[in-house]
Amino acid sequence: MPTLNRGFALTWLGHSTFRLVTRGARVVLLDPWVESNPACPRDQKAIDKLDVMAISHGHGDHMGDAVTLGKKHKPTVVCNYEIHLFLQRKGVPNTSPMNKGGTQEVAGLKFTMVHALHSSGIEDGGQVVYGGEPCGYVLALEDGTRIFHAGDTGIHAEMALIGELYSPEIALLPIGDLFTMSPREAAVAARMLKPKYIVPMHHGTFPALTGTPDMLREELKKLKVAAEVIALRPGEALT
Ligand code: NI
Ligand code: MN
Repeated sequence: MPTLNRGFALTWLGHSTFRLVTRGARVVLLDPWVESNPACPRDQKAIDKLDVMAISHGHGDHMGDAVTLGKKHKPTVVCNYEIHLFLQRKGVPNTSPMNKGGTQEVAGLKFTMVHALHSSGIEDGGQVVYGGEPCGYVLALEDGTRIFHAGDTGIHAEMALIGELYSPEIALLPIGDLFTMSPREAAVAARMLKPKYIVPMHHGTFPALTGTPDMLREELKKLKVAAEVIALRPGEALT
């Protein structure tokens, strides 16, 4: 298991779902898609504690379990205003809405909502409900470590601003192509973000998501971007 010795554990549950256990033992789920996530290992599906859930956008592969887990564990749910309204209507108790450019502190962690280039409709009983704007998050942990979860996104020039303003040390970047950046765009994104480590996500879940961590390493090398690619396997943790 890759180790930074920072007192937190960031487990990739497959696709864009991560479980973060902080040094202060806070449990955070980023983009809750567990139950029907084909990449999530069976022995990782049971969630028995949850303090915070953060949602990047309204698509089922990012918030498929938000209602169930939100009702069961009553975590604080960080999301945009429209997803907050949707979850409230579904009986989720502790939503804490925000919008791009803002920061809020939840359970001792700081969440900054940043831009993503994508869509955010919520499928609900055969209808598509407006889900507001898609986003990414920069998380600042108790020890100051900053982690950027990009959500689903194409490349956009504001990644340079995210790099300048928040200097994320660890960037969780989608590389699968088709619905998000491919490794080529992700490498250029990394040039703007300047992270020390990249954890690739949104790849390998379905055959159509063709980007791989090795392709990302190739592209980074071509651009002489020094970031280290930490390719987790689903269920594996960066500790
Ligand atoms: Ni999406
Ligand atoms: Mn997606």
